Amino acid sequence: MGTHNKPDKKINLASRMDFIEPFHVMRVLKRAKEMQKDGHDVIHMEVGEPDFSTPEPIIAAAKKALNRGLTQYTPAAGILELREAIANFYAERYGVDISPQRILITPGATGALQLVLAVLVNPGDEVLLPDPGYPCNRHYVELFNGKPVAINSDAQNRYQPTLQDIKQKWSERSRALMLASPANPTGSVLSKQELSDISRLVLKQSQGSQTAALIVDEIYHGLTYEEPGEERTATALSLENTDNLFVINSFSKYFGMTGWRLGWVVAPQKYLEALDRLAQNIFLCAPTPAQYAALAAFSDESLEIMEQRRNEFKKRRDLLLPELSNLGFKIAAVPQGAFYLYADCSAISADSMMLSSRILEKTGVAITPGLDFGMHRPEQYVRFAYTTDMERLQQAIERLLKFIQK
Ligand SMILES: Cc1ncc(COP(=O)(O)O)c(C=O)c1O
Repeated sequence: MGTHNKPDKKINLASRMDFIEPFHVMRVLKRAKEMQKDGHDVIHMEVGEPDFSTPEPIIAAAKKALNRGLTQYTPAAGILELREAIANFYAERYGVDISPQRILITPGATGALQLVLAVLVNPGDEVLLPDPGYPCNRHYVELFNGKPVAINSDAQNRYQPTLQDIKQKWSERSRALMLASPANPTGSVLSKQELSDISRLVLKQSQGSQTAALIVDEIYHGLTYEEPGEERTATALSLENTDNLFVINSFSKYFGMTGWRLGWVVAPQKYLEALDRLAQNIFLCAPTPAQYAALAAFSDESLEIMEQRRNEFKKRRDLLLPELSNLGFKIAAVPQGAFYLYADCSAISADSMMLSSRILEKTGVAITPGLDFGMHRPEQYVRFAYTTDMERLQQAIERLLKFIQK
């Protein structure tokens, strides 16, 4: 899966670098910046982070921590107060009982994903992951000389792998399945029943003493758009069996803390010592001021701000869904979470890369081409991020309408 970059003979790079691709959206972003410099008005719908800055109570807590001189290393697994606060959050929000000992604080979900794959993947081991998906995941697998195995996923299955897909792709070298719910770039959410069926299937694939692992990235949890009265999106931690389950999460998205670099992993008891030992070596610890700041993320005041923002995101999604469909962007699977719309643009163009460039040049609306999310029909898709306000979204729709009518 993925492309193979041509090695540069002039520098001595490890061969794994041949498989690490840049974000194609960076080209869009670079061009968008140039256009802005030339005085064009660019509407950013390519950015994968909330447009809201960190809630004030969290910033105030950070300032307090800095004034108290809390700037030194913490234990590798993070400060106990924060691990306890996260455990408390799972109990209150999801009704699941997690020991704080099972929670390790990491430098973003990025740190957690690398940590987990590092302790699981031997050279040549396969890790299954859906395509389209978060592009970095396959690179992390490559980083440990594992082999990412794509499960091509389509709108009819809400871009999530089916049990049959998983069975078909699983081989004796497969070590783990990685999922995200809600997912990037599709906003697709897995129900508790779906998670439970997948978890049972993965466990069944275990061979001898080798337990097959399930890694669920819940970084967009909280940003889900249930209707009033509907059950809140389930965490994989509410499943019956969590012996082979690694749940990744972060303060980046729901809590609006992308730049603070703070995430966590909830791991099975038996892996904790290894994860802690490796975290000591590769990170030492997650940023200390960020950890103290995040203690304020669970206060009623902060959660109220987060919920207001969630409602705002829902409004944006509900505005864009029908408007983009009217313009010819087909969104066959209604996204129930995150802040992305993954749209089939084949009725407008056969080449999504070229289309996103042309849209940017002609309208100043920046979007992400499908190629950033894998190799499964990327030319057919673009991702719209609704990380800009309603007024700007409305303007983007007007500009896109003019572009398409031409
Ligand atoms: C699915 C997914 N996982 C992980 C990350 C990385 O997040 P963090 O900022 O917590 O490292 C992102 C960022 O966009 C993401 O979309």
